[in-house]
Amino acid sequence: MAIISLLFVTIELLCVFPKPNRAADAIRPTQFLRNGSTLVSNGGRFELGFFSPGSNPNRLYLGIWYKTIPVRRVVWVANRDKPIEHPPATLTLNGTGSLVLLGRNQSVVWSTISSKEAANPAAQLLDTGNFVLRDEQRDTNSYSANFLWQSFDYPSDTLLPGMKLGWDLRTGFVRRLTSWKSSDDPSPGELIYGVELHSYPEAVMRRGSTEIYRSGPWNGLRYSGAPELRPNPLFHFEFNANLEEVYYTYQLNNDSVISILVLNGTSSAGQRYIWIEDQKRWNLYVSLPRDNCDTYSLCGAYGICVINESPVCQCLKGFTPKSPGKWNNMNWSQGCARNKPLKCGKGDGFAKFDGLKLPDTTHSWVNRSMNLKECRAMCLANCSCVAYTKSDIRGGGSGCAMWFGDLMDMRQLPIGGQELCIRMPDSELGANHFSMKQLVIIVAVIAVYFGIIIVGYCICRRRRKTKENAENDIRNNYNNERQERDLEMPSFDLASIVNATSNFSVDKKLGEGGFGPVYKGVLLDGQEIAVKRLSMSSGQGVNEFKNEVTLIAKLQHRNLVKFLGCCIEGDERMLIYEYMPNKSLDFFIFDETKGKLLDWSKRYHIIFGIARGLLYLHQDSRLRIIHRDLKASNVLLDNEMNAKISDFGLARCFGSSQTMANTIRVVGTYGYMAPEYVVDGLFSIKSDVFSFGVLLLEIVIGKKNRGFYHSSHNLNLIGHAWRLWKEGRALELVNGEPYEVSCHVPTILRCIHVGLLCVQQQPEDRPNMSSVLLLLSSEGTLPQPNQPGFFVDRSPVEVAEYSSNKYTPSSSTNDITITHLEAR
Ligand SMILES: *[C@@H]1O[C@H](CO)[C@@H](O)[C@H](O)[C@H]1NC(C)=O
Ligand SMILES: *[C@@H]1O[C@H](CO)[C@@H](O)[C@H](O)[C@H]1NC(C)=O
Ligand SMILES: *[C@@H]1O[C@H](CO)[C@@H](O)[C@H](O)[C@H]1NC(C)=O
Ligand SMILES: *[C@@H]1O[C@H](CO)[C@@H](O)[C@H](O)[C@H]1NC(C)=O
Repeated sequence: MAIISLLFVTIELLCVFPKPNRAADAIRPTQFLRNGSTLVSNGGRFELGFFSPGSNPNRLYLGIWYKTIPVRRVVWVANRDKPIEHPPATLTLNGTGSLVLLGRNQSVVWSTISSKEAANPAAQLLDTGNFVLRDEQRDTNSYSANFLWQSFDYPSDTLLPGMKLGWDLRTGFVRRLTSWKSSDDPSPGELIYGVELHSYPEAVMRRGSTEIYRSGPWNGLRYSGAPELRPNPLFHFEFNANLEEVYYTYQLNNDSVISILVLNGTSSAGQRYIWIEDQKRWNLYVSLPRDNCDTYSLCGAYGICVINESPVCQCLKGFTPKSPGKWNNMNWSQGCARNKPLKCGKGDGFAKFDGLKLPDTTHSWVNRSMNLKECRAMCLANCSCVAYTKSDIRGGGSGCAMWFGDLMDMRQLPIGGQELCIRMPDSELGANHFSMKQLVIIVAVIAVYFGIIIVGYCICRRRRKTKENAENDIRNNYNNERQERDLEMPSFDLASIVNATSNFSVDKKLGEGGFGPVYKGVLLDGQEIAVKRLSMSSGQGVNEFKNEVTLIAKLQHRNLVKFLGCCIEGDERMLIYEYMPNKSLDFFIFDETKGKLLDWSKRYHIIFGIARGLLYLHQDSRLRIIHRDLKASNVLLDNEMNAKISDFGLARCFGSSQTMANTIRVVGTYGYMAPEYVVDGLFSIKSDVFSFGVLLLEIVIGKKNRGFYHSSHNLNLIGHAWRLWKEGRALELVNGEPYEVSCHVPTILRCIHVGLLCVQQQPEDRPNMSSVLLLLSSEGTLPQPNQPGFFVDRSPVEVAEYSSNKYTPSSSTNDITITHLEAR
């Protein structure tokens, strides 16, 4: 008995007690750690000890947390599903070199199994947050990788810098993140995130066995579906896939920064947090899945998710919904089926799709040394191969990845998407598969044909009078005139309109539109309307009227002004719209008093509305439409301050493949027109994006681009914004209520930044509207804009302003057509 008690005394003496100046960072055999004392890593960053989450102080867990931050964030737990219910709890290192966790009656709650026995073992908490067991006799270097055991091999819900997420193929050992069951129960929850060992490996998040998110395969630079994973100031990352290991890992760029990746069971998300020292709180950096389109296989097989579309799911070209009824009810899980079956050896080819997150790689095959040509040939030769692409996009791209079975879980990515060649029967591929010889002949024939047409056209043109000429110019742009004929739109009779507007009385006049006056009216049923009346004297007006009727009747979107119908009787031509009580945007943003009514969140709401409306015109409507005259006075506001784009008199309709057109008649409004349009008459969706950028800057800054004056330089508003932004003084552009502004600094800066991206000199540098929406709403870093168009001084000879303020009675005839290039 005496011997035993003596033994106990010795052990107690050896026991680790935190000393005032320097806490221990390791325990050795016969030493132990009791609840109440802790180990602190050498650099003081991490602490290991017992903690009890939630309200029951008697449930003890052994864990590791950041010593340096006041909010305890447990990053690792040893006995996750077996708390010590009866303290004291004891951690000790037994004679064979295993860590053992003991409860009150010396029952073993948790223990480690080492890969080998150690002569002189020590368990040490490193400053990386790794708790390691090593043999002090064999390796004196405490950072050696030859640990007998390490906590980094058994992640809980947190991936610390330097931890590996993935597989050791030599041992079959796998490291995954598992969420806590709840915030006060660290036992393994249902949410699991890990790398899956497909031939083309990718990271997958599951709830139980249900897949809820996949990252897309590693393409050499990042996960295919994670464009936000790019070089950044915070951390660098690495993915290794070789015969021995397959894993993802990251390191922080600056040792004094604290950032972790956590699997959050409450919100079913993988989240990266950064510790903000000044504010003593964690800040969310990114959260995956990001949006609805990240939901695993939302659109089913061969469906593609496009986040800014409505509905978000579409079938790939050449495919149609498998069960249209369900599909139309937004149940997309059945996916899409081919319009025409594959013919396998007897005439298949590949259609290339771009901008994608690559499909699920469960049934994939990768060869990193093949090139794309070999890849195509091999895929073509195997009937069950449905798609192929480069497996690695670094440099020009290399390697070969092939898919077998249905293609699942694809989405369109506005930036950083990849191309995928999908097997299609020849009949779906159209002219893509003519032989070279056939192709040359076809091209030659087309060239001759167009030569004749162009020569003929020029001859005709010379003969025609200018007025007819302009009419043809517009009409030629409707690919088929049938569109005009099958217009089905409600028609109002003249009498009811005359009645509604008190016979077009002057006090009902709201202003002057593109081709004539606009009146307010009230129909018999009480509905308020705006009537756009074509003035008899307007020659150009006839065309614009027709143009507007043709287009607007087919467009419907909550951010476009609602068209109610038209009235054509005798010489009268009128368009009837819903009435907008809040008039147009220019009334507010350029007016100091009224501007105060538009607080920042309203402005932001309006910006989004305009962007969505424009996206609809460019992409989502049945027609592809370029507005060509987007400006503050053409954005109307309803009584809830929703933005509605109006005035389609100058809009142009595009074929789905056409992206740019040329006009000899440059029409639009100075201050909003893109340089390539003013100078070369080239217009495209990117010239609308330019106008949107100008408008965005105007809304944020509250000043007109055109007519902007600054005492110290001769720049226009864009130039001024660009200069201040480059100098890091962009906030000086905004003069709102200081409190209001200070609450919205990040969004305001983001809007200015996006505005500058939209007004870049080169059309190809400008984002398209779907990217604009994403850039406005995301939190990631934005690309750097290049110099904006028209940034240099205004030309000394200025053309008078051709603005058309729809609702301002104006003495001018509002000829917004600018034809100075006609003479060229
Ligand atoms: C130790 O206590 C626990 C809980 O009270 C009990 O389940 C276990 O059987 C005990 N072990 C021994 C060895 O007595
Ligand atoms: C790391 O961050 C600290 C604090 O933010 C800063 O003072 C230091 O300059 C940074 N070091 C490097 C190498 O960037
Ligand atoms: C989980 O996410 C929710 C919502 O984003 C957040 O409030 C909570 O703090 C997160 N939990 C953890 C453990 O980070
Ligand atoms: C086609 O590829 C699959 C998957 O790699 C393979 O199992 C099958 O044998 C191949 N078929 C032919 C005919 O090569």
